[in-house]
Amino acid sequence: MHYWQNPYIKWQKDAPENWDVYIFQTRTSRNKALTCAIFEALSLFSPCQPIPILTGPLADKKGSYRLSIPSDFRTEVKQLAPHFGYTEAVHRLGPLDEPSEINADSEIAEFDRIRWRKKTYTLRPVYIEPQNFMRHRAPDKRHFRLLKPNGEVTSVLGYRGDGQELSRRGLPAEDARLMLNLARPFNHGPIIDPFAGVGGILYEAADNKWPIFSGDIDPKLRYGLGDLCQNRHTVQDSVALPYADGAFTAVVSELPFDPHFLDKRAAQLAQELTRIVPSNGKIVLMTGADQIEMMKKRFADLNISPIFASPVNRKGTDVHICVWQKI
Ligand SMILES: C[S@@+](CC[C@H](N)C(=O)[O-])C[C@H]1O[C@@H](n2cnc3c(N)ncnc32)[C@H](O)[C@@H]1O
Repeated sequence: MHYWQNPYIKWQKDAPENWDVYIFQTRTSRNKALTCAIFEALSLFSPCQPIPILTGPLADKKGSYRLSIPSDFRTEVKQLAPHFGYTEAVHRLGPLDEPSEINADSEIAEFDRIRWRKKTYTLRPVYIEPQNFMRHRAPDKRHFRLLKPNGEVTSVLGYRGDGQELSRRGLPAEDARLMLNLARPFNHGPIIDPFAGVGGILYEAADNKWPIFSGDIDPKLRYGLGDLCQNRHTVQDSVALPYADGAFTAVVSELPFDPHFLDKRAAQLAQELTRIVPSNGKIVLMTGADQIEMMKKRFADLNISPIFASPVNRKGTDVHICVWQKI
């Protein structure tokens, strides 16, 4: 399926008159997941009325996509762009005679020229991700406090679990950011990751100062996870959560990928995750490729259809990212 055939994204051919056109570039490691990147941008910029457009300059460049946004939102676009997970560069298409923006950050003042439909435009950088930004945020660069079998608590650099199907841990920062962005807008309510692992999602939420709660069945993770969410962590079996109905604006989580994990739990899990969000609350899950249909069916039993779904290849592991919104 081509990216423009994804049923969850409603394209327009051209930008509305007098609206800005932005050109986005996804990071090379995720440019096969272009629809995820586009849906992330639509959620991230949702306060700015973004429209995905099919035509425009650089349309044939791998990993690039275009949105049109009313020019009143230029400040908001600049403020939101550094939160991206899958997109690493944002440029605005400007008329040739637009004055150059003199900015304290000299890199923002530079621009390129580009020809499109017999006219010359300037390509003005709005956001360029600093080099190695995601690398520095990777799970192997972080310290995590772990409870050892002898009861001691030790700080481990780059802890990623024991590699078992039920405990494979350490979501890359770009995926964690993407998933959090897919749950926007939060309206400042709390969110929860009920299968928190070593806290990839918590780490990125904390960076944005979003209030996040965490849960994991594995007690040895409780100190490290407590550190990442201001002690709003509970050791729990997440098919029965100790929270009130509608307590969270969103659930953002990566399920255990064991193909048998859902065997007896899928229906209860879908029910429980739906129970703890209010109407319009979002549930953003990363699942194994063999788990997605089961979860879709169980949410469908509750009359909830996905508002977005797409496969993602994470360095050889096929996973799915899916977003449901409670009615
Ligand atoms: C794929 S990992 C999550 C990885 C996490 N996103 C990260 O960045 O490290 C799934 C986690 O679910 C936990 N888990 C397995 N069964 C569970 C259950 N029934 N309730 C809660 N957590 C569970 C495992 O201990 C594991 O840490």
